[in-house]
Amino acid sequence: MIPPKQVQEILDLTRIEEVIEDFVTLRKRGVNLIGLCPFHNEKSPSFNVNPTRNIFKCFGCGKGGDAVTFLMEHEHFSYPDALRWLARKYNVEIQEIVRSPEQVAEIQYTDSLYIVNDFALQHFQQQLFDTDEGKSVALSYFKQRGLREETIRNFGLGYAPDQWDLLLKTAKSKGHDPDMLRKLGLVNQEATRDFFRARVMFAVHNLSGKVAAFAGRTMSSDKNTPKYINSPETEIYVKNKILYGAFQAKKAIRQKDECILVEGYMDVISLHQAGIENVVASSGTSLTEGQLQLIKRNTNNLKILYDGDPAGIKAALRGLDLALEQDMNVRIVLLPHKEDPDSYVQKYGGEAFTEFTTRESKDFILFKTQLLLAETKGDPIKKSILVKDIVASIAKIPDPIKRSLYLRECSALMEVDENALVSEINKLIQTALKKKADKDARSPSAASDSPDVAPNPEFPTADPALVTPRERPVQKGDEFQERDIVRLLVLYGEQMLPKEQMTVAAYILLDIEESLDTFDFPLYGRFAREYHQMIVEGKSVDRHYFLNHENPQICELTVNILSMPWEMSPNWEERFNNPLQNQPMPDLNFDIDARQALDRFKLRKLMKMCEINLVRIRAASEEGDMDTMMHYMRVQQKLNESRNELAARVGTVVLSK
Ligand code: CTP
Ligand code: MN
Repeated sequence: MIPPKQVQEILDLTRIEEVIEDFVTLRKRGVNLIGLCPFHNEKSPSFNVNPTRNIFKCFGCGKGGDAVTFLMEHEHFSYPDALRWLARKYNVEIQEIVRSPEQVAEIQYTDSLYIVNDFALQHFQQQLFDTDEGKSVALSYFKQRGLREETIRNFGLGYAPDQWDLLLKTAKSKGHDPDMLRKLGLVNQEATRDFFRARVMFAVHNLSGKVAAFAGRTMSSDKNTPKYINSPETEIYVKNKILYGAFQAKKAIRQKDECILVEGYMDVISLHQAGIENVVASSGTSLTEGQLQLIKRNTNNLKILYDGDPAGIKAALRGLDLALEQDMNVRIVLLPHKEDPDSYVQKYGGEAFTEFTTRESKDFILFKTQLLLAETKGDPIKKSILVKDIVASIAKIPDPIKRSLYLRECSALMEVDENALVSEINKLIQTALKKKADKDARSPSAASDSPDVAPNPEFPTADPALVTPRERPVQKGDEFQERDIVRLLVLYGEQMLPKEQMTVAAYILLDIEESLDTFDFPLYGRFAREYHQMIVEGKSVDRHYFLNHENPQICELTVNILSMPWEMSPNWEERFNNPLQNQPMPDLNFDIDARQALDRFKLRKLMKMCEINLVRIRAASEEGDMDTMMHYMRVQQKLNESRNELAARVGTVVLSK
């Protein structure tokens, strides 16, 4: 017997690709790995391993699962043997246990809690479906609220009649221990009367579909009766780790790669019935970290639906920085006045609902900015608080590209100088980094979780779709990177790089070949393309050629560069940890200089591609075009990998201009 805690430990350590690679040769394709399926005969690989989800799937024969499934199928192991194999691989020393009587008792205890809940569920269902009162009072209530019988059964809805101790008596007659009912909150402390009376019942399932708790809704509109009453916390019902509907929704959440979060039980049920199955409810409270983790395990995309007043919404937004920290994409939808998701979908149907929520969904940070901005009404103090609040949210985002995009958009929205935001956020990030470093220093074992830097220094081939005319106004920062390339060409173009055995110009221009058409500044672009063309044609080029160029602008550019031997971008030091000022003059150092300039140039172009690509992803996702979206997600992954690599080399903290 392997203790459950260790089972979890083993599963947490297990990387599916590492396990499968012991049996199957895999190679990378995008985020995933592919290989020849070991379960059926094939010539071209359709066996897919997804490290993010920790699963495998063969698109040829359909077999799929996690590492344990794989070992059971492939090695014909039993479940415990598969775990033992993994434990050996990951150096987990299993303390196999012979359970003590107390432990057996504990397990029996939780088991029996579930058994009693299951009995209660059956009881409530029986009261709903098989009694006259249930049919006329409760079943008709559910039906009048638009629920079909199939839905009612599927979600474990039931009825607790208005009787003092019906559940208690029935339980006793079936041999259940009243003490168990007391512990589950199904009866009062004295075990003399039922807790849920005269209410329609909702079963709350845990992730594996067992009944963890109940909620009861009154059917009366009496203001003195609480609308819902809920089971208390128990060993099997830890409220901040359970999301209502998660059991019924988890498959759809994975398939749609999105989780919709609503507030109420009825919202989940109605949406599910209307075909929108990727829905869970926080049950009227704000999202906890545990619940977020539950969602994050299945998708990175969270869409939150709010009804109600701005005050309530503002409160709800407070918890969402947690989601940003986890690098989740959070979008917000405000429902029309006086509608909640249940009433909306019952009135207009599932299609209209999806259309509405797609059209109206707003990015969380921009939504928050707009919402709070409306309240500052030109009050500078309120506004400065707002700016700090928003910047603090943005600082939580781990992805520097996303951060810089948000900074740009928010600076426009709030009419605050982007540079001011950048320096504000840099302060926050540096403080956070320092905190983390201090913490790591104190516990050295935790320091090893440095981010993986993708081993891909190649400049990715420009996706043709990405190289499009830009609508965006050109930023000043772009000018510097492009001019810097021209500077290198003019100053050192002809010099030989000893290691590469080619000229600096050839080295640079071949390296940025794909970007030659994407210069923002036509003059620099023209210069680079012409130089490139001449190298390709094997002509020798030198600065005199450009000094005597037929185009006066090119002459002027060349002269300017030559007469200014050492050039730095304004505010350069603020943005990059570049110790250039202490370096020898560039003449002695052109090799390093060239490489750095190249890296910066490429980083700049990459960021631009990322930006364009993100817009495409968003557009595709809004159109519901999953294939296109997946395509661009893969492109994004590749771009991100290269960008991280470069950013690490350039030493950039926050990538802005
Ligand atoms: N809730 C609760 N206790 C209450 C009121 C609400 O636990 N007294 C929780 C429930 O999970 C409820 C959610 O908060 O589903 C949202 O509350 P509300 O919007 O008032 O109810 P609805 O879910 O819309 O329920 P109905 O449509 O039946 O009115
Ligand atoms: Mn409602």
